[in-house]
Amino acid sequence: MNNKKKIFQSVLPATVAATIISMSTCSMAADSDPIKVGVMLPFSGVYAGLGESTRNGLKQALKEQGNSIAGRPVEFIEMDTEAKPARAPEITSSLVDNQKADFVIGPVHSGVAMGMIKTIKGKDSIMIIPNAGANAATGAFCQPNVFRTSFSSWQTAFPMGKEAYDMGYKKIVTMSWNYGFGKESLEAFNESFTKAGGEVIKEMLVPFPKTEFQSYLTEIASINPDAVFVFFAGGGAVKFVKDYDAMGLKGKIPLLGSGFLTEGTTTAQGPAAEGVITTLHYADALDIPKNKSFRQEYETLYGKPADLFAVQGYDAGQLIVDAVTATHGNTADKAALIQQMEKLEIDSPRGSFHFSKAHNPIQTIYLRKVVDGQNTVVKVAHENLEDPARGCKL
Ligand code: PHB
Repeated sequence: MNNKKKIFQSVLPATVAATIISMSTCSMAADSDPIKVGVMLPFSGVYAGLGESTRNGLKQALKEQGNSIAGRPVEFIEMDTEAKPARAPEITSSLVDNQKADFVIGPVHSGVAMGMIKTIKGKDSIMIIPNAGANAATGAFCQPNVFRTSFSSWQTAFPMGKEAYDMGYKKIVTMSWNYGFGKESLEAFNESFTKAGGEVIKEMLVPFPKTEFQSYLTEIASINPDAVFVFFAGGGAVKFVKDYDAMGLKGKIPLLGSGFLTEGTTTAQGPAAEGVITTLHYADALDIPKNKSFRQEYETLYGKPADLFAVQGYDAGQLIVDAVTATHGNTADKAALIQQMEKLEIDSPRGSFHFSKAHNPIQTIYLRKVVDGQNTVVKVAHENLEDPARGCKL
């Protein structure tokens, strides 16, 4: 029996409706209570597209299991974070303390992640971060009950510093939104670029989520650096890449980025994205059987191509499936679940990975180039890169 119900709650302020979607393929019995999965993602605002992809990927992994694990149905409780850090403690607490969620999946935005981690610390729910890269999440603030299926800020930007220098660029301007993830990405780029012998001649920070880039681009044109390295994502990345082209900088000053600049955005960016070079732990065209089958199934389910955010959501779903299967459906003993999660090898579309001691993926970072609207692999930038997990005491 496929039992599907939708309940709208008013746990949170008027702008947010909590959607409880309960899906079951077997009849409810006392020993088959639902596994509760809280989902905290941006379904509105500049990161809405990222939230949707993440949710799609997560649901795809559970659909493959008939929405049940070890005989227990899975219940999703969805909350819109709006990518607003101030909302994080209240929503997390409602999922953890009121709903008693077994797992909380989220968020996309690093500021939201830090609020969630502070609230979930020491609680009986397991947080799986499917995107936010804040170094501290698996660094100084690492927790036994916090895992990440995505990346650290450091991991995605550090390899590009050396790659940029090796491409012959010596003087670079860096630019990002002015918040944790962006600043950490620029720092990581700077770390390896300077070590290789390059110089960051100007760092530009734009208030989040502002997308008026014209004055910054005018300044870049007058500085005329060898290249520009940026972090923007979602709607901001679309606008930035198009503005860069429209202002006549494309073709004159090469544009580099951490891979989010061209993830899930190339269709909207159109010809402006062609030739943009980035580093990331995924590429659409990765020649891995699991990637091909994942992308095909995603396209069938959702009618559009998958992106990295979908992969990370899918892997959060796979992590739940594999861990709960290993405990034969027991989610009451969280220490046992965590022990299983620490041992797992995740069969990801990016290539299989396992977790570091700090619970962050150890994974390969690729140098990519947009060709015909696709992120293609130029080469491996760093094989099996592990985040240094600075300050983590796990
Ligand atoms: C973050 O805030 O950590 C973040 C947001 C969007 C991305 C990547 C990282 O695409």
